[in-house]
Amino acid sequence: MKLILDTANLDDIKYFNTYYPISGVTTNPTILSREGGDIVKHLRTIREIIGEDKELHIQVTETEYDKIVSEAEAIVKAFGKNTFVKIPATDVGLRATAALAKKGIKVTVTAVFSAGQALLAATAGAAYVAPYVSRLENICEDGIGVVAEIQQVLDCGDYDTVILAASFKTAREVLDVALAGSGAATVSADVLKKLLSHTSTDTSIAGFAADWKKAFGDHTLSELLKG
Ligand code: E4P
Repeated sequence: MKLILDTANLDDIKYFNTYYPISGVTTNPTILSREGGDIVKHLRTIREIIGEDKELHIQVTETEYDKIVSEAEAIVKAFGKNTFVKIPATDVGLRATAALAKKGIKVTVTAVFSAGQALLAATAGAAYVAPYVSRLENICEDGIGVVAEIQQVLDCGDYDTVILAASFKTAREVLDVALAGSGAATVSADVLKKLLSHTSTDTSIAGFAADWKKAFGDHTLSELLKG
């Protein structure tokens, strides 16, 4: 499963782009509102940090069909070929998705809360559909179950659409969408860190270091290899 970083924080993007196997960055209007300032310049900086080959997902702010389509085209023109335009799963969003997909623009249909919405988005030509896992869980729905159902729907048809599971509050949810067959997940810096950290790993490393020191003092293996 592809992992994408769900933030516009430049320090986090630099860090995770360097150390973690991320395939890109997703943003939404709320995420961008946390950064403020010259947001176009900020998005350009994100593109510079991740390079032109990684995915950058940017959501439209227009709400009328013609304006969504022209804003999507302007977004791709400004941020390059691996830019995905996020469009919410609405009537007008579906229509814009179909038109943009025909023009070769990659659309991530976002704010997906049901397999029915995902079916329509896939049929319209969406590159990704983004079900909101923890927001589903917060309304007593089965977020992971919706992801599994969407994957079943996609497997039954001839779609190029991939699930980009979104809105995670726990590392367990990320693992569960991977097990449900999701092709990608966009995850915050905090949750991504939680996927890696484990106290038993820390204890094991401390044990290795103590045993090595007892036997070989302060010498590292690379020093000893030099002879
Ligand atoms: C994806 O980019 C979504 O917009 C995002 O994951 C939503 O997450 P939230 O529910 O934590 O706001």
